[in-house]
Amino acid sequence: MLRVLVLVSGGGTNLQAVLDSIAEGRIRDAEVTGVISNNPNAYALERAKAAGVPGKCISPKSFDTREEFNEKFLEAVDEYRPDLIVLAGFLVVIPPAMISRYRNRIINIHPSLIPSFCGTGYYGLKVHEAALERGVKVVGATVHFVDEGTDTGPIILQKAVEVQPGDTPKALQKRVMEQAEWRILPEAIDLIAQGRVRVTDGRAVVAEED
Ligand code: GAR
Repeated sequence: MLRVLVLVSGGGTNLQAVLDSIAEGRIRDAEVTGVISNNPNAYALERAKAAGVPGKCISPKSFDTREEFNEKFLEAVDEYRPDLIVLAGFLVVIPPAMISRYRNRIINIHPSLIPSFCGTGYYGLKVHEAALERGVKVVGATVHFVDEGTDTGPIILQKAVEVQPGDTPKALQKRVMEQAEWRILPEAIDLIAQGRVRVTDGRAVVAEED
């Protein structure tokens, strides 16, 4: 059984998609053993509670220095002994020590087709604002492993979504979540739990089903 730790900052709809997918058998051989939020008011913590998953808050604001936070954050993560760490709308930079300790065991959902609209400053609604501003006709979401860069790690899954005339950033965000994020994040976790994802030469390869 793959022990999954989910890190969140906000509403937690991706966390919910993961919890529902486990309950409904779309993610096999995995359980969410903990949820950590940097934001004490994150609705995601309510979702964890409702699902009977232990939740915890650890915020950089509670520490004098970033180094101190990073150390305590890593300790908090280690306590769950995770096989896989899922960043589901987590908006804090992952400490380098955590990236190297959990190499190719941390995944992130990003609301664009990487390498478009990603990197520093592109998160949440800002991604969809930028896509509409540029006038692209196709957007989407990406699940990737986390490396030392911002949104630069090996890509596991992507799914495209069409922009509709009259889309607002919020409308586009909702469609990308419904049609892409809530599908490919659970799918990626299932693939990892089935041992079908490996990283070679900096690229993720998904093996065919037996
Ligand atoms: C999601 O759209 C996720 O892709 C995005 O934040 C939202 C969180 O929503 N993540 C990023 O922008 C990371 N760069 P949720 O809390 O309802 O899952």
